[in-house]
Amino acid sequence: MTPPTSPHATPAGSTADWVRRDDAAILGWRHLPRVVFERGQGLRLWDVDGREYLDFVSGHISLLLGHNHPELREVLIEQSAKLWHHYKYFAATPVIEFAETLKAALPEGLDVVNFAAVGSEANEIALRVARGVTKAFDVVAVIGGLYGGTLTVEGLNSIGGPRKRHLGPLLNPARTSTILTPDCYRCPIGLKYPSCDIECVKASEELTERVSTGDVAAIITESILGAGGMIVPPPEWLPRLKAMAERLGALLILDEVQVAPFKTGRTWCFEHSGIVPDVLALGKGIGAGMAITAMATRQDLADRAREAEVGIPWAGTFAGEPLYAAVAKRSFEILLAGNYAHRAAERGEYLMSRLRDLQQRHEVIGDVRGRGLLHRCRDREGFDWPGSGQHDDASHPMECARGRSACRRIEQCSQNVSCPDHRAGGHRGGRGKAGAGH
Ligand SMILES: Cc1ncc(COP(=O)(O)O)c(C=O)c1O
Repeated sequence: MTPPTSPHATPAGSTADWVRRDDAAILGWRHLPRVVFERGQGLRLWDVDGREYLDFVSGHISLLLGHNHPELREVLIEQSAKLWHHYKYFAATPVIEFAETLKAALPEGLDVVNFAAVGSEANEIALRVARGVTKAFDVVAVIGGLYGGTLTVEGLNSIGGPRKRHLGPLLNPARTSTILTPDCYRCPIGLKYPSCDIECVKASEELTERVSTGDVAAIITESILGAGGMIVPPPEWLPRLKAMAERLGALLILDEVQVAPFKTGRTWCFEHSGIVPDVLALGKGIGAGMAITAMATRQDLADRAREAEVGIPWAGTFAGEPLYAAVAKRSFEILLAGNYAHRAAERGEYLMSRLRDLQQRHEVIGDVRGRGLLHRCRDREGFDWPGSGQHDDASHPMECARGRSACRRIEQCSQNVSCPDHRAGGHRGGRGKAGAGH
């Protein structure tokens, strides 16, 4: 007698088989259709069934030079033979060197760095510094911002409302989101730029004064609101926010975990604004796929934070691994030497012009916005306020895969600064299997 076939039987090694094992073993957040990757090279990925994909999200928005870069692989092998992990209360040479590389590329006023493993943690360190220096507790954030997933910064997020459900009460309560979204396409107070004179900052300051204790340690924002809709603030916005922070006696923390380095046409995104933040959080792209992130701040603030004895500097188990630092340093050097910021600016102009063409032809596209290789098209219709939960990627992870609104995903072709120049016919991919896979 033939044994009954299990309803769950799947060919060993196939996608279906790996998906079953994934579901059984990992509590993960998965997009549809389900894909299980096995290998990557440059801009391409291959799944366990041998299908080829173009990686429009560059790993987890992190691989500025693509997968398996030969020079980085060499550094990885070289450094792994020397030292890959150490006790963080001692220093290690590649970590010092990477800090110096970042320092040399940062403007005066961002003089010292403190490493961490993920972007959320870099923001947590930024909050430690702000609270330690100002001795204040309140932190206010921008509506539509995303600062990570650890529970302290989760309290500052205001995209994807449902993701916070049942997690509270959080350390930073909802009332900390007092800075109105700098979204000129759908102005939160119904005004038009430039005649508005950036009234949104004035209104935000009033709101902050009303709902805070009056002792505000920091204002935190992304330089471009990434997950909240790739919202590029008007040029006056960041300088006004910095002035507001100064009036409140607070520090301005810029979270450039997603938008830096090199992606926007400058090394750092804040360079477009003419201001230097008091504290900067970096992640994703600075690590070239290695778990190394950073907080950078002014020397005097770092010294005061140290004196405040509030647990600064941060020195967690994986805060600044020598192995990761060595790879990240080489990646940064390659990007700097190859003038990838300039390349991002050039390709960004091309991307923007083609998206504007599409906008002309398709009424559904209401707004095209972005900078460098970060772009997004916005629906003309529909209530797409960040946090509404209706259109946020974070609250609807499946939506993109279902293709309900292709334009919503256009920013994702943006994150890899090494992508070929399409104008020069450098795009070799075509649809091929990559298209079939999606
Ligand atoms: C702007 C921004 N800040 C912080 C984070 C959190 O980074 P991580 O996932 O490395 O903790 C993210 C992640 O997407 C982000 O986009």
